[in-house]
Amino acid sequence: MINIRNISLFGGLFAIVVIALGAWTRLVDAGLGCPDWPGCYGFVTFPITDSEIALAESRYPTFPYEIDKAIPEVVHRYFAAMLGLIAIFLVFFAIRYKVDSSLRNLSIFLLFFICCQGLFGYLTVSLKLLPIIVTGHLFGGFITLSLFFFIFLKAADFRFLHYIDIRKYKYLALACLIVLLVQIFLGAWTSTNYASLACPDFPTCQGSYYPEMDFESGFNLKQEVGPNYLYGLLENPARVAIHYSHRVTALVLTFFMLILIGCLWFTNAAPLSSTLGLVLLLQISLGIMNVVYVLPLYIAIAHNLIAAMLLLVTLLVNYLAFKK
Ligand code: HEM
Repeated sequence: MINIRNISLFGGLFAIVVIALGAWTRLVDAGLGCPDWPGCYGFVTFPITDSEIALAESRYPTFPYEIDKAIPEVVHRYFAAMLGLIAIFLVFFAIRYKVDSSLRNLSIFLLFFICCQGLFGYLTVSLKLLPIIVTGHLFGGFITLSLFFFIFLKAADFRFLHYIDIRKYKYLALACLIVLLVQIFLGAWTSTNYASLACPDFPTCQGSYYPEMDFESGFNLKQEVGPNYLYGLLENPARVAIHYSHRVTALVLTFFMLILIGCLWFTNAAPLSSTLGLVLLLQISLGIMNVVYVLPLYIAIAHNLIAAMLLLVTLLVNYLAFKK
C-alpha cells in the first residue's frame, strides 16, 4: 500500500544503499573518477568503447580515464538521483493527500536537503576532494537517512512505542547523540584526509600511547588541496592527530553509551538497550579490524554502514526520551 510510512521506509532503505555506494566510491579513491558533473567526461553514463575513451581523454587531457573509477562514481550518482526522485514523490504524496502538516513540512525539508547533498556532490568534484566538503557530503548522507527514519517513525506511530517511558534519561540520550555525531565527523575526517593507516598498530599508535601529533594542521579546516586532494597532502603527525582523536573519542562514546545501555536495561526499553550494546560492539570491532587488517574494502564499508545503524538506534532512543 502506498502511504507516507511505506514511502519513507523505502526511501530510508534506499538511502542506506546510497551511503554504501558513497563509501565504496570514496574508499576505492574514485571521487574524481569523472572530472565533470553531472556528466562523466561529457557522457551521460561513462565512456566504454575505444573511440568514446579517446573522445573523453581529448576533452579532459589532464585527467587520464580509468573505467574502474568512473563506474563507482556514476553508479553512486544515479542511485543518489533516484533517492531524489523518491523524496519528490514523498512531497507530492504529502501535499496531494493533505497529510499531517508536520510530516508534510519534514518531507519538504528532506527534499531541500537532498538537493543540497547534490550540490555537495558537485562541489566534491569541482573543489577536487576538499576534505571539509567530502566530510560534509558523508555527514549529509547520514542526515538524509535520519530524516527518512524520523518521518517513518512519526508516520507509523507504533502503538508499542507509546508504552516505553524513558523520559528521565533524555539528557543522557542527548549527550550520547552529540558525542556520536562528533565521532562520525572524526571518522569521516580520518577517511577524507587519508589518515586511516596513520596508526598502523592497535591499541598503540606508532608504537606509543601518546605518539607525536600535529593537531593544528590535522584540524585546519581551510587546508590547501593542491591540484587535487587524492591520497592527501598532510604530513604524518597531522594524520596521526586525526586518527588518534577518532580512537580517543570512541572511548568517550563507549563510556557514555555504556551508562545509557545500563540505565535502559532496567526499564521496559531493555531490547533497545541490548540492540544499542550489540551495534556499538560491532562498530568498535569493525574499527579495530580496519586497522589490524589494513583497511579491507568490505570492512571499511561495513564500518560506515554500522555507524549509520548506531545513529538510527541512538536517534530512536532520543525520539522516545523526548516524546511528550
Ligand atoms: C565507536 C564508534 C565508532 C564510530 C561511530 C565510527 C565511525 C566512523 C565513520 C563514520 C567513519 C567514516 C567511514 C567512511 O569514510 O566511509 C570511520 C572511519 C574510520 N574509523 Fe571509525 N568509528 C568508530 C570507532 C572506531 C574505532 C574504535 C576504530 C579503531 C580503533 C576506528 C577506526 C576507523 C578508521 C581506521 C577509519 C577510516 C576508514 C576509512 O578510510 O574509511 N573507528 N569511523
